[in-house]
Amino acid sequence: MSDPTAPNLVIVRSVRELREAVAGWRRVGETVGLVPTMGALHTAHMALVDEARKHADRVVATIFVNPTQFGPDEDFSSYPRREARDIETLRTHGVDLLFAPGVEDMYPAGFETNVNVPDISQGLCGDHRPGHFAGVATIVTKLLLQALPDCAVFGEKDYQQLQVIRRLALDLDIPVAIIGLPTVREADGLAVSSRNANLSPADRATAPKMHVALKGVAARLLAGETAAVACAAGHEALAAAGFSPIEYLEVRAADTLLPASQAPAGTPLRALAAAWLGETRLIDNLPVA
Ligand code: PAF
Repeated sequence: MSDPTAPNLVIVRSVRELREAVAGWRRVGETVGLVPTMGALHTAHMALVDEARKHADRVVATIFVNPTQFGPDEDFSSYPRREARDIETLRTHGVDLLFAPGVEDMYPAGFETNVNVPDISQGLCGDHRPGHFAGVATIVTKLLLQALPDCAVFGEKDYQQLQVIRRLALDLDIPVAIIGLPTVREADGLAVSSRNANLSPADRATAPKMHVALKGVAARLLAGETAAVACAAGHEALAAAGFSPIEYLEVRAADTLLPASQAPAGTPLRALAAAWLGETRLIDNLPVA
């Protein structure tokens, strides 16, 4: 049920309306924070909204299920679309504006430009989801240029995505602060994700073991073991828990995502994993600190 005391949420579908609203705020000296999403909003999205609110006077959320970041065998058509419920969630969280364009607004006839961040997009999820990060980079570039926010907030759960976005904003001189928010977790450590709803009760009980395995990898590295030894132990822990297939469990440089073995000594590291439980693909990562 809608909360009559909640502030007004403006909903726009076109880039022109988005720009007019943002320009109006700018004229009176207000700053703008952007939270790009694909909808099906949950607590982790709301944490992004709360973070944007800390940094900006106005918060703009976007909902767009971006077809170009889904592979041909991925779940684009079945991706959950719950706009009415999402609108209520955004309204009660005090979001000022929702930009929810259609595919024809974002990719009009004749569209052919792609943004590609080739090195950071390579390996990890990039190896298992060909074309995914070019789709993400292209749509996020468009959203940043359409809204021209002061800051944009993304979750660290999609860590490779976050690094791709940081790189493109830097390389393309987009005047925006990219803010990464630490992963929001359930009480048992499982990273919050819309895909968790697809887990069977048994798989849901197993799922937090990915977080445990990554913590084990970080602890081994901090104790002086090599990345190869720590990852082999992490891999074993995931397999013993029942994750199959394990797409990757790796340690990478936290900023460039270069393999740990190629990173200069002293580089901050990140442990990252992706693996399946039943029909559900889970990803997670942790700083080695
Ligand atoms: O993380 C997501 O939800 C999407 O990849 C994003 C950043 C909204 C781009 O479509």
